[in-house]
Amino acid sequence: MHPMNEPLHPSPLDIAWCRGQFPALKRTEDGQTAVYFDGPAGSQVPQSVVDAIGHYLIGMNANHGGLFPSSRQSDALLDEAHRAVADLLGAADPRTVVFGANMTSLTLALSRAMARTWQPGDEVVVTRLDHDANVQPWILAARDAGATVRHVDVRPDDCTLDLDDLAAKLSSKTRLVAVGCASNAVGTINPVEEIVQTAHEAGALVFLDAVHLAPHARIDVERWGCDLLTCSAYKFFGPHVGILWGREELLRELPAYKVRPAPDDIPGRWMTGTQSHEGIAGTLAAVEYLAALGRRSMPEAADRRAALSAAYQCIAAYECELVARLLEGLASLPEVKVWGITDPARTAERVPTVGITHARLTPAELADYLGREGIYTWHGNFYALPLTDALGLEPEGMVRIGLLHYNTAEEVGRLLDALAEVE
Ligand SMILES: Cc1ncc(COP(=O)(O)O)c(C=O)c1O
Repeated sequence: MHPMNEPLHPSPLDIAWCRGQFPALKRTEDGQTAVYFDGPAGSQVPQSVVDAIGHYLIGMNANHGGLFPSSRQSDALLDEAHRAVADLLGAADPRTVVFGANMTSLTLALSRAMARTWQPGDEVVVTRLDHDANVQPWILAARDAGATVRHVDVRPDDCTLDLDDLAAKLSSKTRLVAVGCASNAVGTINPVEEIVQTAHEAGALVFLDAVHLAPHARIDVERWGCDLLTCSAYKFFGPHVGILWGREELLRELPAYKVRPAPDDIPGRWMTGTQSHEGIAGTLAAVEYLAALGRRSMPEAADRRAALSAAYQCIAAYECELVARLLEGLASLPEVKVWGITDPARTAERVPTVGITHARLTPAELADYLGREGIYTWHGNFYALPLTDALGLEPEGMVRIGLLHYNTAEEVGRLLDALAEVE
């Protein structure tokens, strides 16, 4: 038995309860329980999310604004989903929560609108640590406006963002800094509040990609002081729905691309076309799942926000321990190289998403081998193309082991055993 298989120290996270909520985790491959380390590409969902989607479709499936009961019920449920996501994001006003197809589509629409406010000579700052959905939309928008794009480097030794380079790339011409909260390839958490402050001192707006942070840590738009933020429900235990939050005056004033009969209020002017109402119902259920998780450790939580804060405390403590075990185990495998923060003492600076390469196997070969062992991982660049490019890992990329709070020390042990035995 690999030493990583020993049970974790007691954690306030009730792992048995959590796993019991996710029916997909019962899946078996050749008699072995499947190990889902593919969460960064989309998490599994609790039964309550499945039920909420079905309940919506059976009980209140209707378009907006109808003067009949199912439409009224549907609208009330959608309003509650805006409130729930505002709680999740730490936003004061539920109208500043926009739903859409996914983060990429919302960001492309926003970037087109922002481009109309830029001029030649303006500058936009993006980073090499980001998913391309937070890079290319801004490159395209800058191209359309004749603006210039500046790229912030990463420190290759630990895949952290080079904050000195960020400061050097800012000037009075900078209109926008687009940065991720956490890397979806190597797990680095960026010091978001510090970045927002530095960018604001230069007079720039800040757009945050919180897609990869959302299943791991509390988002707090009011405290962080950012201007715009996106995430995706399918990464935090919900269905395929994208989320955009923006400061009220920005959402109200930016020139959104919309059709004429659609409401010109917020969030209506950004929620183009008919939404996936059932998906939004499922998103509400995903937030409620997290709140329920928090209430298990803090039954006295005054409201949904407090319960969500408690949930993220449990999740972070549990995941820190789990990833420390994974990093310790990987360090003992001479053929495996970890990209990013490897020091188990620095787990608070990363989420439990670990990018590795193998001395003999390509990422595709390794992911295929693990897949046959019933361990689901991703290979390639995961659209974090600026990073894999900067690290010289294109075209093959790396293997990504993406842990979520429903994963266990035993699963980490199974992965380490499989890696130790790879031929
Ligand atoms: C960090 C990050 N940003 C953006 C995206 C794009 O999200 P979506 O699939 O909702 O467009 C992803 C998806 O993997 C991601 O991991």
